[in-house]
Amino acid sequence: MGVDLTEFSLEGRVALVTGAGRGIGLAFAQALARAGAHVVVNDLRAEFADEACHAIEAAGGKASPAVFSVTDFSELDAAVDAIVARQGRLDILMNNAGILIRAPIEDHAIPDFARVIDINLNAVYAMARACARPMKAQGKGRIINTGSVMSISSRPGVISYVAAKHGVLGLTRGLAAELGPHNITVNAIGPGYILTEMNRHVLGTPFEKTVIDRTPMARWAAPEELGGTAVFLASDAGGFMTGQLLMVDGGMTSNSLLVETQNLGASS
Ligand SMILES: NC(=O)c1ccc[n+]([C@@H]2O[C@H](COP(=O)([O-])OP(=O)(O)OC[C@H]3O[C@@H](n4cnc5c(N)ncnc54)[C@H](O)[C@@H]3O)[C@@H](O)[C@H]2O)c1
Repeated sequence: MGVDLTEFSLEGRVALVTGAGRGIGLAFAQALARAGAHVVVNDLRAEFADEACHAIEAAGGKASPAVFSVTDFSELDAAVDAIVARQGRLDILMNNAGILIRAPIEDHAIPDFARVIDINLNAVYAMARACARPMKAQGKGRIINTGSVMSISSRPGVISYVAAKHGVLGLTRGLAAELGPHNITVNAIGPGYILTEMNRHVLGTPFEKTVIDRTPMARWAAPEELGGTAVFLASDAGGFMTGQLLMVDGGMTSNSLLVETQNLGASS
């Protein structure tokens, strides 16, 4: 018998991925396109969105750009309506756009804190709210939020990011509870440390090795390694999974302490 992966197919589906011009969002968009979806590539930066669409089309996929900021809250309903009018439907929302500001508490002023919460949390709600309307009308939908290891853990210097990503988990559960009866699933993907422009500057610093030491898989990951999880959650195969945070973190959050044990003695 041949392999039948029909339940993972996204043929005929329309997906909107926010912050998909580069990095993890681009990898999500490419994975959904490979599975057959038409991907609407959102980004704040038009040149990023256009380049991402060209890359997807060059690989045989279907894509179109949608340039807007996910924090233009009063414009989001119209932006989503325009996508539905152009593509005829909207099946999948991937809430991926995000930023990180690293600063200790004394240097992290309220406007910076608020900006991180606006993009990483408030916009996730605003986009889910805007997309739930057409999904309800269709009687089916998939919302996938980008969480983080910081959705369930913490480290110094990124307070607003930790608060926002914990909020993404709460939002995922709250939206799942409310939208489940409309046949809309809501889940989150929690990436571990993925090499993108967000963190490329830590290469060569002690932090690069700290991540490796704390990760059972003993390495950083590439954005492409998140794609399969997104396709699963977006497809019919994920139809009864909702309200979940799926960690794709090389095991980082599954253990509290990774230490070399052979030198600790037999009874340690
Ligand atoms: N890189 C990691 O290790 C890592 C780990 C866990 C979670 N994440 C999360 O993954 C997501 C993507 O991160 P990345 O590493 O790919 O970052 P990135 O900076 O490489 O890409 C982010 C993209 O979002 C776009 N963007 C920023 N603000 C926007 C806005 N207001 N509206 C629309 N687009 C906007 C940017 O232009 C950029 O193209 C974020 O939510 C981030 O928190 C990243």
